[in-house]
Amino acid sequence: STQLRNETAGVLRIGIAGAGRIAARFVAEARYVSGVSVEAVHSRTWERTKEFADRHELEWANQSYEDLLGHVDAVYVATPHDTHYDYAKRAIEAGLHVLCEKPMTLSRAQTSELFELAASRGVVLLEAVKTAFSPGFQRMVAVARSGSIGQVRSVDATFTKLVDSGREMVGADGGSISELATYPLLAAVKLLGLGFTDLQTVSLRPPGSEVEVFSRIDLTYPHAVASARTGLGVKAEGDLVVAGSAGYIYVPAPWWLTEYFEARFEDSRKSKKYYYKFDGDGLRYELAEFASMIRSGTSESFKLRPAESIAIADMIERARASATIIR
Ligand SMILES: NC(=O)c1ccc[n+]([C@@H]2O[C@H](COP(=O)([O-])OP(=O)(O)OC[C@H]3O[C@@H](n4cnc5c(N)ncnc54)[C@H](OP(=O)(O)O)[C@@H]3O)[C@@H](O)[C@H]2O)c1
Repeated sequence: STQLRNETAGVLRIGIAGAGRIAARFVAEARYVSGVSVEAVHSRTWERTKEFADRHELEWANQSYEDLLGHVDAVYVATPHDTHYDYAKRAIEAGLHVLCEKPMTLSRAQTSELFELAASRGVVLLEAVKTAFSPGFQRMVAVARSGSIGQVRSVDATFTKLVDSGREMVGADGGSISELATYPLLAAVKLLGLGFTDLQTVSLRPPGSEVEVFSRIDLTYPHAVASARTGLGVKAEGDLVVAGSAGYIYVPAPWWLTEYFEARFEDSRKSKKYYYKFDGDGLRYELAEFASMIRSGTSESFKLRPAESIAIADMIERARASATIIR
């Protein structure tokens, strides 16, 4: 298409929806990715939009989202979870590529719908789960899948952070699952696949808290199990253990910024250590993948396939809907 030719010839112009914490980190990270240029921003309030554009020296501060859509080739959606669907849908309908913050949506149906819409419009849609695109995590998945630790039998992944207030601590879409579960569920899906047969969740919502602050999601697969733990205001060791029939992989905290992991065996002399770089905030990896998909006309990234994003949305939706609440 003409649009694709222009993008291939020149720089991919990106607009950002949202002017908050992750949006600012994204602009800084985009400087490390060749062939892309962040040019526009639109947020809910004009003051924030204008201030963000000035601070980051962007070409356009757009009062309306429609205006932003007219100035760029692609949109990075960096607004609160419950608004992703709408911002992403409008961009796709305008024929733009979309890199959407995690969780893309909080339901299987909405996530599937966005991917179907993107496919029908011939644009790229990618969920911005930075871990999935980092060299260390990809290598860890490859080592696990190579059979060197035997059959994978269990995946245990934890992601917690200490937070007292803010977007994630209030409202119907707040809580540790919607904020953090994408990462441990990514590990489960990459290592065990999409075919889980059961999902059980326990969530802690202390008196006076609007949201659950700690959760454990247990997944059963035909020949394996996975457990994902998330916490906001609860701190635990943020590591990942992949247990196999011949050995296990240990990724120390913070495993989601994978720089180092070990394959360990009964005979400890056979342990193997793997070292990788995780540059900056890691957003450069997802952006580089996004830009490369657009340039090569590829609609699916094997690093995070649409079916995997849809499965994660399904797990998040089920976990939130069916959790046993403890106080
Ligand atoms: N990948 C990562 O490492 C990572 C890290 C953090 C967050 N995230 C994800 O990124 C998203 C944004 O998180 P954040 O921490 O950057 O949030 P934040 O700091 O609260 O910023 C959200 C921004 O979205 C704007 N916005 C636009 N439309 C909105 C609407 N209809 N309602 C409310 N706000 C609206 C806000 O506008 P105002 O300026 O007017 O308030 C604000 O600028 C979340 O989905 C989160 O899960 C990802």
